[in-house]
Amino acid sequence: MTISIEKLIDGLRSITDADFTCDNVYQFLAAKPVDVDSITKYFFWSENFYTRNLIYKDERFELMAICWESGQVSRVHNHADQRCWMSVPVGKLRGQNFRAVEIDESKGFCKLEETNNFNLSDCLTAKVELEEPIHQILNLPEFNQRAVSLHIYSKPFDSCLCYCRDTDTFKEVPLFYTSIRGKLCSSVKL
Ligand code: SIN
Repeated sequence: MTISIEKLIDGLRSITDADFTCDNVYQFLAAKPVDVDSITKYFFWSENFYTRNLIYKDERFELMAICWESGQVSRVHNHADQRCWMSVPVGKLRGQNFRAVEIDESKGFCKLEETNNFNLSDCLTAKVELEEPIHQILNLPEFNQRAVSLHIYSKPFDSCLCYCRDTDTFKEVPLFYTSIRGKLCSSVKL
């Protein structure tokens, strides 16, 4: 049985700080697939980039719908030491994890190696492991469809480290919302 996004938010808000753990939030999300009709007002699409659409934010967590056209991918990135859970109510996505095999922070140098990967669809849920937080999300062309993922970040963050595999470098980059609570941000051109 699915639940509306409003009920999901209420449920997340009612979890105490002590119980807001990686496993508890994961179980909560996995047991409560979201009714897609309750999130369509947060969908924005761009041919040029995947869109980040804020649904809810407080001091403890933010909840976002990310819309991926076929073939769009995230940068290889980490999550600024914050916890992350995601589920995929529309379409299908690939998650690819990486490990840093050589790193020199003073030079912004980091050599990565691919580790495991996983596919998500049908409201399947995943969590980003804090021990191995570098990853990339891909809507592979072969999936041949749009996808939407729901992401919970705790605590919210507005920058993270992005890694370039061609140059073995990394740097901090700012993160932006495409829309906030269903309204396109004024600075965004889709
Ligand atoms: C993003 O938050 O921009 C990318 C999605 C993710 O890896 O969680």
